[in-house]
Amino acid sequence: MSFDPYNRTDELSTEATGAIAARLEARGESLFFSNMIDEYLAEMDVPSLTRVLDVGCGTGVAALRLASRPDFRGTVVGVDRSAGLIEIADAKASEEGLTGKVTFEVGDATSLSEISGRFDAALAHTLVSHVDNARSVLAQIVACVRPGGLIAIFDGDYASWVYGGDHPEAGEMLAAAVVNAIVTNATVMRCLPADIRSLGLQIVAVKSYVLSEVGEASFFASSLDSYPTLLPVSGVADKETVEKWVDIQRGNSANGTFFGSINFYAYVLRRPE
Ligand SMILES: C[S@@+](CC[C@H](N)C(=O)[O-])C[C@H]1O[C@@H](n2cnc3c(N)ncnc32)[C@H](O)[C@@H]1O
Repeated sequence: MSFDPYNRTDELSTEATGAIAARLEARGESLFFSNMIDEYLAEMDVPSLTRVLDVGCGTGVAALRLASRPDFRGTVVGVDRSAGLIEIADAKASEEGLTGKVTFEVGDATSLSEISGRFDAALAHTLVSHVDNARSVLAQIVACVRPGGLIAIFDGDYASWVYGGDHPEAGEMLAAAVVNAIVTNATVMRCLPADIRSLGLQIVAVKSYVLSEVGEASFFASSLDSYPTLLPVSGVADKETVEKWVDIQRGNSANGTFFGSINFYAYVLRRPE
């Protein structure tokens, strides 16, 4: 029986929280990754937004990216179940001089009723793949947004995650372990259209991406760095086995034979008036 540490961030050790924070921060610095955020924000009429909610904000990557835009004149509230990640997000807001524009608080995406109806828009940036019931979390998020407001759901289609390279069998084992270990719902973005319809939401825009790295790993390198800590926590493999798989992938990257790929999707939705 394995569990997804990103689903239970309020129960993790300092070491595991640190591994998650390091991965989220490194990923947030990737140009490909930040461009995907910018592309769904471009569908949300940013200058018109006065109050935005970021659910499952982690270290605040999406919230701070929005808050730092010159065309954003509103405020952002980031909510996450991990007190450790919220502490890091707070420190970053202060470092970036954004304290008045963005606030972070500990909260649970499965019970957002206290803040219902208060926001023009909400973001869930790689949250729904880490919750037990994505439809119910989406319903909670929708309830936080005023009628006519927008919701951006961005996530990976983790069932498409592959590692290849010089030792394809090690890549297959690592990709399977990753999907079993650090994702709760690997196919959530394929299933969400039915939930979108049943919740009566309108689709404003859909964006799709293939993030592939061939030769040398960059986006995937920080992901690999997190596995020796996170995969044993989830229970899929012991540290020694994970380090062996990871070392093969790092070797592939060093000698220019790395292959890693995953699909991402963004859905921008409107709550009807
Ligand atoms: C993959 S991280 C994404 C963090 C951030 N949005 C980003 O992209 O950098 C998933 C986040 O969802 C949070 N999370 C998972 N389940 C949650 C829940 N039920 N309520 C609030 N946050 C949750 C985790 O603590 C974690 O920070």
